[in-house]
Amino acid sequence: MSKENEKTLEIYKEKANLYLANSIEHDRLDPAKAKQKREKLEKLITTNFSSLPKHAKVFEIGSGDGLNAKFIENLGFEVTASDTADAFIEASQHQGLKTIKFNALKDPFPEKYYAVFCWRVFVHFTTEDALRTIQKVYDTLEDNGIFIFNAMNREIKDVDNEWIDFEGEYHMGAERYYSYFTKKDLDTIIQKTKFKIEDFHKDGGSNNNKWLVYVLRK
Ligand SMILES: C[S@@+](CC[C@H](N)C(=O)[O-])C[C@H]1O[C@@H](n2cnc3c(N)ncnc32)[C@H](O)[C@@H]1O
Repeated sequence: MSKENEKTLEIYKEKANLYLANSIEHDRLDPAKAKQKREKLEKLITTNFSSLPKHAKVFEIGSGDGLNAKFIENLGFEVTASDTADAFIEASQHQGLKTIKFNALKDPFPEKYYAVFCWRVFVHFTTEDALRTIQKVYDTLEDNGIFIFNAMNREIKDVDNEWIDFEGEYHMGAERYYSYFTKKDLDTIIQKTKFKIEDFHKDGGSNNNKWLVYVLRK
């Protein structure tokens, strides 16, 4: 695992509570936008998970507040949520979710899954971290399983990566490592695995291109 990711996780370990409070406050300031974002994400999940067997096992990497995992569970899937920071694990357990401590770059997946979901986590990955994670997810998926993840788009940034403490939703009072990928970067990484790209689109931000969203199929 990269030093960048390791150092970033130390910040989350200390300050995940602040992250949780700030994202609630951020959504409260603009509830209409928050609702629109949530509905878009839920549609992405619902559409792509409709191909999975009933009650299929699903794993989420970096669940944060656990809202996405809870949504997936409510669709009828058997979900394991996960994160590295205790405050995130507790937030997710508080919603009644099965939640484990899990570092995507270090820990083996506990079992096989029909889908793995990983939202706004690749922002803290180097290229090597991204490849390692995508390959590990491939290995843990059942045949025909899917991997949904997103990464921040390099096109809207001036640098490939930076240490930054964003204002607003992501504010934590400490800089974390953020990396920005082009579609070409990620396609090249994905080509090193046996995944097929089932869907790709850009989404979010003022020009609808802040995030690169991938649905991969084993
Ligand atoms: C910006 S937060 C997003 C949280 C949540 N997925 C969401 O969309 O609200 C980034 C998350 O990535 C997780 N993360 C970063 N590196 C990780 C790693 N190596 N293994 C597991 N989780 C990681 C952090 O713990 C944190 O929960």
